Amino acid sequence: MTNKPELLVLGAYPDWDFVELEKAYTLRKLWEAPDQGAFLASHAANIRAIGTRGDLGASAALIAALPKLEIIVCNGVGVDGIDLPAAKARGIKVTNTPDVLTDDVADLAVGLCIAIARQIPAGESLVRSGKWTAGPLPLATRFSGKRMGIIGLGRIGLAIAKRTEAFGMKISYHNRKKRDDVAYAYHNSVEALAAGSDFLVAALAGGPSAKNLVGAAAFKALGSEGFFVNVSRGTIADELALLNALENGIIKGAALDVFLNEPNIAERFFTLPNVVLQPHVGSATLETRKAMGQLVRDNLAAHFMGRPLLTPVN
Ligand code: 8YV
Repeated sequence: MTNKPELLVLGAYPDWDFVELEKAYTLRKLWEAPDQGAFLASHAANIRAIGTRGDLGASAALIAALPKLEIIVCNGVGVDGIDLPAAKARGIKVTNTPDVLTDDVADLAVGLCIAIARQIPAGESLVRSGKWTAGPLPLATRFSGKRMGIIGLGRIGLAIAKRTEAFGMKISYHNRKKRDDVAYAYHNSVEALAAGSDFLVAALAGGPSAKNLVGAAAFKALGSEGFFVNVSRGTIADELALLNALENGIIKGAALDVFLNEPNIAERFFTLPNVVLQPHVGSATLETRKAMGQLVRDNLAAHFMGRPLLTPVN
């Protein structure tokens, strides 16, 4: 018999997190179970915490199946995949990992802008394939000094703005609400922002209110010289409209870290010449993933010791 609280983990965490978590909790690793339904049925009665990730969330059905659930800890800032109303209805606490990943996600956003505008992957592949001798790449697009449009001027959006200020860019943004503490130009719609941007970067939180926020009209407004960059969630863009815009020159290109149905993304992306594609790695550095894991454990420890949570969501 053990009196360690039981923690249902929905997907892999780095090994160093498991080493620490195992000291304080009995871990139930759902994704490793050959029959997840049977595994859940056999452990559901004793599970007191769920450990999830931004890309995995926690459904209402899962929450309903766990009668003793007290807390859901998310290794990630985005909690759009967690059914927050279902958690709230039962008084189940939810935590995430804000701040510790802000710099990395902002770094990647800027990196993606430069990668797509300056054709870095195309240049790499030209050199690596030995085809440089056949001739140069077409000329690229300048990044410095251009118009940067940020959708979602929260922690990550603001970090992108600060970075791109250093590139001499003219920064504007769209948010649910205009911010009083910044001098950047505000647009009250994504389409208006897109019309005034060379780079349209999505850094907003996902969730129902943001679903398909960037659609055909926004891509048309961004125009045939514009680039779309997404480090937020695949759901915030109308993906069919995006593919159509990329295939038909409605926009010049896109650099994407997030998609619908990750990791089984739409195969139409694979053959597009005007995209840079990343496997959802915005926060995937050693430094940040260690800090995220620590924050997850600190929130769990606070909960089970009856102390205030460090980063509560609800
Ligand atoms: C990862 C993320 O997908 O923070 C988020 O919202 O999407 C990412 O950091 C993942 O949650 C890392 O575990």
